[in-house]
Amino acid sequence: MPSAPPIFQTTAFDVPDLDVLQQIYEGAVVGDIYTRDSNPNHTALADSIAQLEQAEAGAVFASGMGAIGSIFLTLAAAGDHVITARSLYGKTVQLASRMQRLGVSISSFDVSQPEQLRAMIQSNTRFILVETVSNPLLEVADLPAIIAYSDGVPVVVDSTFSTPELIRPCSLGASIVFHSASKYLNGHGDVMLGVAAGSAEMIRRLRETASVFGQNANPFESWLTQRGLRTLPLRMKQVCDTTRRLAEFLTGHPGVRRVHYPLLSDHRSRETACRLYPSGTGGMISIELAGSGFDVVNRFLKQLPNIPFSPTLADARTTVSHPATTSHRFLTQEERSVAGIRDELVRVSIGLEPFEVLAQEFGSALRAI
Ligand SMILES: Cc1ncc(COP(=O)(O)O)c(C=O)c1O
Repeated sequence: MPSAPPIFQTTAFDVPDLDVLQQIYEGAVVGDIYTRDSNPNHTALADSIAQLEQAEAGAVFASGMGAIGSIFLTLAAAGDHVITARSLYGKTVQLASRMQRLGVSISSFDVSQPEQLRAMIQSNTRFILVETVSNPLLEVADLPAIIAYSDGVPVVVDSTFSTPELIRPCSLGASIVFHSASKYLNGHGDVMLGVAAGSAEMIRRLRETASVFGQNANPFESWLTQRGLRTLPLRMKQVCDTTRRLAEFLTGHPGVRRVHYPLLSDHRSRETACRLYPSGTGGMISIELAGSGFDVVNRFLKQLPNIPFSPTLADARTTVSHPATTSHRFLTQEERSVAGIRDELVRVSIGLEPFEVLAQEFGSALRAI
């Protein structure tokens, strides 16, 4: 018996006879037949996610987008209506607009005003989609209020930025929670994977969609993520502590016009953040550099030789990204300005380096520009 779980790197599973095959398909016997449908590495990770999220069941997907794609395709069809938060991950916005092409109507609301839901919910509204903490301005969704105003419509929560270490949306009444596990759940920047948790029936439906649309995960990445989960509590604790200290350190620095971090006194989500995330909102902060245009950003990035400029987040290493030219590049300058995404905005994903190392790196880069 190995002390670490084995990797079931196989396309299919040999089945002894027709009776067993039948029993597996009917669910009378636990087993796997074809990895696109299920695999022991999927099951192990899905069970861990369900346990962490305090939900009945879990599922794994080829990526975070695989998870949200399967959720849309499972819950909404032509003629249906979906309500989304106004500020969502860019690719999720693109996915929602693809769903519009398929006949699903989409409306969006401001998560800071959950009472807006009252007038928006229609008889054909199939779900409400929100992110726990938005990218890159870190607006915190007041999940209990959103769920209270949902009038029984399923609330689907992207908890990628928060992880079950900080909040468990299903225990607050959400129907589905999902993550880009490519981020904190794996935590090492070497996996593409998505996960979801919810009721056993909801998860059964999502898994069926994932199988039909080929959105299932591969065994090795499920295994890596399972391994990553072992250190999730430690990593999130360190990341939250360092992030809070770095946000305070950067606030008031002459090279910085503004720091966006929900636990700072001038953030619009501070009250919600203090109530829902007393120990921290994760490892993200965004900083507006003093100066104007892309030039100041370029100079700043060049002064950070040890902090990679990388269009991802939640790696074990601290990384920086530039929303105006990456996640929000599909918006016009005017749309970006309405959304509050200035050209000088830099998003920082804090990793596991000690605070002192990061303060030194960012402090000297800011002094140099
Ligand atoms: C909040 C959020 N949701 C979903 C996704 C999509 O996840 P993936 O890249 O694993 O497809 C991302 C990716 O960055 C994200 O930041």
